[in-house]
Amino acid sequence: MSPRQLSARLAEVTALIRSRTGAPPQVAAILGSGLGGFAGRLERAVSIPYAELPGFPASGVAGHAGRLVLGDLAATGGPVRVVLMQGRVHGYEGWSAAEVAFGARVLCSLGVKALLVTNACGGVNPDFGPGTLVRITDHLNLTGQNALTGENDDAVGPRFPDMGAAYDPELGQLLEAAAAEAGVPLRRGIYAGVSGPSYETPAEIRMLRAMGADLVGMSTVHDVTAARHQGVPVAGLSVVTNPAAGLTRTALTHDDVQRVAARAAASLEAVLAAFLPRAAR
Ligand code: HPA
Repeated sequence: MSPRQLSARLAEVTALIRSRTGAPPQVAAILGSGLGGFAGRLERAVSIPYAELPGFPASGVAGHAGRLVLGDLAATGGPVRVVLMQGRVHGYEGWSAAEVAFGARVLCSLGVKALLVTNACGGVNPDFGPGTLVRITDHLNLTGQNALTGENDDAVGPRFPDMGAAYDPELGQLLEAAAAEAGVPLRRGIYAGVSGPSYETPAEIRMLRAMGADLVGMSTVHDVTAARHQGVPVAGLSVVTNPAAGLTRTALTHDDVQRVAARAAASLEAVLAAFLPRAAR
């Protein structure tokens, strides 16, 4: 990807999305593994497969390609316009960090007030059992990659963006208020982003814990870096699907991760439904 053309590429994709979806979105969310069901809550929704959006990375696996969904979310005080990414690609599939982050960039370029990133992750903090929902308060980017590597396009954002409030404290408060309203317990934690695709070794998890991580996963950090580059405030919400390696005797499988994510999806959706209208206004 030539960063020189980033602003032009974003302008092309957003123009195409606008031509197909009417009124612009007020707020955006990226739905992680097993958490895509929330898209079904949008009314008058228009969905666009990633493959129809030039430059948008799409997984080659049939049924997992993902789509952008734009529609109305019912809320007290009237509906809000929401744009969702249902599915995302990961660095371990071979995409560069900049490519991984392109979807988040498109959402931000549509003029949203806030971006919510969600993910399924492992619990490094031994208090965070499967099904725990966690407000991400900060992250450790341990992927060895950065979404801003390469020439900077000053029309998109600064060369050296501040990451001092990568996860916006006010949005974090709104997330906690939304969880309280939904009756869903919400913890706080620091997310360690790793490259995967192998899960961690017990020694790596001990290292992550010593570094201050509560959560570990293979997504999110590039999306957040790109959103902050564009000046869009971010909230992060994790679903813990498993105790991280070494914290349990059971071997980790992707099927288990997906199953727990699906089970926790109802709680996550309730929080999203309460949070997005608050963040949109
Ligand atoms: N490690 C990394 N990524 C993950 C995990 C994990 O334990 N669970 C879900 N995504």
